[in-house]
Amino acid sequence: MATGTALVTGATAGIGAAFADRLAAEGHDVVLVARDQGRLRAAAHELRGRYNVLVDVLPADLSTEEGQAAVAARLADPDRPVEVLVNNAGFSLNTSFLRSTVDDEERLLRLNVNAVMRLTHAALGGMTSRRRGAIINVSSVAGFGVAMPGSTYPASKAWVTSFTESVAMSAARFDVRLMALCPGYTRTGYHERAGVDMSRLPGWLWLDSDELVRDALRDLRRGKVVSVPDWKYKIVAFSLRHLPRRMIRMGARDTRGA
Ligand SMILES: NC(=O)c1ccc[n+]([C@@H]2O[C@H](COP(=O)([O-])OP(=O)(O)OC[C@H]3O[C@@H](n4cnc5c(N)ncnc54)[C@H](OP(=O)(O)O)[C@@H]3O)[C@@H](O)[C@H]2O)c1
Repeated sequence: MATGTALVTGATAGIGAAFADRLAAEGHDVVLVARDQGRLRAAAHELRGRYNVLVDVLPADLSTEEGQAAVAARLADPDRPVEVLVNNAGFSLNTSFLRSTVDDEERLLRLNVNAVMRLTHAALGGMTSRRRGAIINVSSVAGFGVAMPGSTYPASKAWVTSFTESVAMSAARFDVRLMALCPGYTRTGYHERAGVDMSRLPGWLWLDSDELVRDALRDLRRGKVVSVPDWKYKIVAFSLRHLPRRMIRMGARDTRGA
């Protein structure tokens, strides 16, 4: 993967911060996108101190029309080409669909689905004409199955994986790579923010975000279109893809979407 500018959404915490760090370490200039300006400035300061690269910040709420438009405009700017896009920002609701509000469900879809589609579209114009570039869409192993509570979350991630696989076929003709990254449970602030108690999850099931990102970038270089990191989640993904749906629904009665 050539160096050039990388834009990472949700770059101030968890998996997105690990992507920004790794890409900067590999020599990419980086554009960090998230909502909280203070955290963006702090993350940029840290990366500039650690690596000899340019770090830019772009505050945007990607669940809004204005936020999506601002980041899409940056991605489509021919004077500042972006070589690598990581659509990472996403969240889940820790509420049964029967108890959540339509506003919250729509906010989730705008971030997890609409922003991914729009930013992928904005980035692809320049990438295909330059015949160079890569897009990683952070999905989830939950997208292969069903999960309770939070029904819209696994559905949104099923969309991300399917969408990425489809667009990857069209983009390959222009030497542009797309990859859906489908992690399992990864230690970040994500579950705490969603109000999910994960204290009962055995330690060995947790993934480390730095290792996850290292393996994801290796899979991208190898030309994988769907990357499921770590052997245990490869088994989970294989099972979810091949077991009868009735068995999957029984197993999902009290799962927390990864
Ligand atoms: N952690 C897991 O176990 C796990 C497993 C499978 C898949 N995933 C997926 O991996 C991705 C990253 O998860 P994570 O655990 O690293 O999350 P996280 O620790 O909660 O970090 C989320 C990042 O996204 C930003 N963000 C949140 N809402 C945003 C919005 N509306 N617009 C722009 N930026 C926004 C946050 O910054 P601000 O709050 O400042 O905006 C933060 O930088 C998500 O797509 C998630 O679904 C996570």
